[in-house]
Amino acid sequence: MNKITFQELIKQATNKLEVANENANIARTLLLYFTKLNQNELYQNLDKNIDFSDKEYFNALDRFLKGEPIQYIIGEVYFYGYDFKIDSRALIPRYETELLVEKIINHSDEYFVDNQNLKIVDIGTGSGIIAIALNKEITNSSIWASDIDDDALALANENNKINDANVTFLHSDMLNYFVENKMKFDILVSNPPYISRDETKIMSNRVLDHEPDVALFGGETGLVYYENIFKNARKILNPKFMMGFEMGAFQKDAIEALLIKYNFNNYQFSKDYADKWRNLIVFNNLK
Ligand SMILES: C[S@@+](CC[C@H](N)C(=O)[O-])C[C@H]1O[C@@H](n2cnc3c(N)ncnc32)[C@H](O)[C@@H]1O
Repeated sequence: MNKITFQELIKQATNKLEVANENANIARTLLLYFTKLNQNELYQNLDKNIDFSDKEYFNALDRFLKGEPIQYIIGEVYFYGYDFKIDSRALIPRYETELLVEKIINHSDEYFVDNQNLKIVDIGTGSGIIAIALNKEITNSSIWASDIDDDALALANENNKINDANVTFLHSDMLNYFVENKMKFDILVSNPPYISRDETKIMSNRVLDHEPDVALFGGETGLVYYENIFKNARKILNPKFMMGFEMGAFQKDAIEALLIKYNFNNYQFSKDYADKWRNLIVFNNLK
């Protein structure tokens, strides 16, 4: 039987985190996960003995202190109002990506007023968050999502079930499967790998050592997947189309040059809450 109280557990864990110069809030985040209590319930129970194994709690804390991202330890994330399973098979969903989902939903409402059955494709779906959120939010949409990484696809399929969604996940190197099968879509969305090799110098080991390389790097410049998509997108898009991308904070000029190179001239970049260029929406040229 554990004799330690919630308060004592938080104190010990906070101490370990502070000594390691890590965010002390992780003590509480882990505790909420272990107890399934909400903040209020936790505060009301601080002087009670914990009813789970403190050993397991401190094992989880040690994994964090050794560098593993907290999301992989907890194994779940909340994205656009939905619960997703997450582990080292796929990139951890970032809050910026919610902004992309929001843009797609808002623009699709305005732009496709006459189309009640949108066909959408998500390239490089990872854990499936974008495709599944769009499937839940855009009524009557038919959604395909692809990845080159079969482990990520397995996780995406699990998330499809967890959320009672209806996305078709399949293996494809970029657009190849859809081109070969002559498929056509109204909307293409992608958060491709966009980190350049140079940027590794400023990235944290928590990301570099744990998240899949294939989900992070977009070649030497970080731009290879945008170029690949711009070059081939028209092969899988209906004449009236929209595309939406997440991008690196400093890629706007380079991506704009690629848009011009591939003859896209109707597009909008937008910023995230940190005032960084983050999303790109492209419409067909005939808007
Ligand atoms: C930045 S992650 C985005 C994952 C997810 N869409 C999200 O927003 O969290 C990029 C994804 O692209 C996939 N990917 C990398 N190279 C690819 C390729 N050649 N064809 C298809 N997908 C690829 C990776 O496996 C990874 O899941």
